[in-house]
Amino acid sequence: MANKVTISTDITQTLTAAVEEVKHDKLFLLMDETTHKLCLPVVKDIPCLKEAIHIIIGATDTHKTLETLAKVWTELGNGGGTRHSLMVNLGGGMVTDLGGFAASTFKRGIKYINVPTTLLSMVDASVGGKTGINFNGLKNEVGVFNAPEIVILDTEFLKTLDQENILSGYAEMLKHGLISNDKNFAELLNFNLNEVDYIHLGEMVGTSVAIKERIVEEDPLEHGIRKALNLGHTAGHAFESWALSRKPYLHGYAVAWGLICELYLSCIKTGFPTDKMRQAVRFIKENYGTLPITCDDYEELYAYMTHDKKNTAGIINFTLLGNIGDIRINQTATKEEIFEMLDFFREG
Ligand code: GLY
Repeated sequence: MANKVTISTDITQTLTAAVEEVKHDKLFLLMDETTHKLCLPVVKDIPCLKEAIHIIIGATDTHKTLETLAKVWTELGNGGGTRHSLMVNLGGGMVTDLGGFAASTFKRGIKYINVPTTLLSMVDASVGGKTGINFNGLKNEVGVFNAPEIVILDTEFLKTLDQENILSGYAEMLKHGLISNDKNFAELLNFNLNEVDYIHLGEMVGTSVAIKERIVEEDPLEHGIRKALNLGHTAGHAFESWALSRKPYLHGYAVAWGLICELYLSCIKTGFPTDKMRQAVRFIKENYGTLPITCDDYEELYAYMTHDKKNTAGIINFTLLGNIGDIRINQTATKEEIFEMLDFFREG
């Protein structure tokens, strides 16, 4: 898979070099309504983008649909796109996932570049080649693995992000810290999220993405070690689904709460040190608050976990840790242990 990640401090220079590097006939620039308003002004005067054909789609996950995908294919076709065209996806995870899928399938696949504009998409969605859309009521149900040619990370875009979106992306950084080493994780716990130092955050983004890249390089199609990136996501996806019909939360909040649960499971099942779990739980509770579940919600949450697409043969699959950086994939837990984990989440 391609997927060259470039850390940028000068978007004009980096994007110009990237567009020049990937030979193409026509250039398309995909944005959603939010990035069209907030991020296009940052790049619109870059000479190589002057000729680009703009495609604008609705913002947020509700637009990650077959209809939006069809709109992008239609505009690529109407704009004279060929197999040798190039698409630049400027946006958060919805734009890079859907844009990546549109590019991977139009004329059997054109090249694309990701320019993620949210912290979540910088450290997770835009890197690693997972593309797709929601379908039939299920998140990311249809898609392909196909990496972008280049991913450009420029923290300039983060300056227009609100605190909730910073926190949402930061949860995936916490996950990367936990699967790497004590030093990285301690740095993340010491960072002040209430007064963001963007230069320091930019450095930590570089470290975080490098952790993901190393894992994806080893196992691009998620047969083994890439499952490390699912830490916090079995419980996290269940929380996200539970919240959807009540009060939806950003993905990273569900992941942060999922980390609390799965670190607890790691303590009781794979010997993760309790003091480190307590430190992580304190940080997450202070910054993310909690989800107001009661014991009446356990059956529903358990049902979501049993339907997770990471499972095989109906067995709930967790990624746990024996310590920071000591990854244990393909773990499972009994219903009793899962309910105990939810008790800990509420009361721990
Ligand atoms: N978001 C996890 C992965 O890319 O595998």
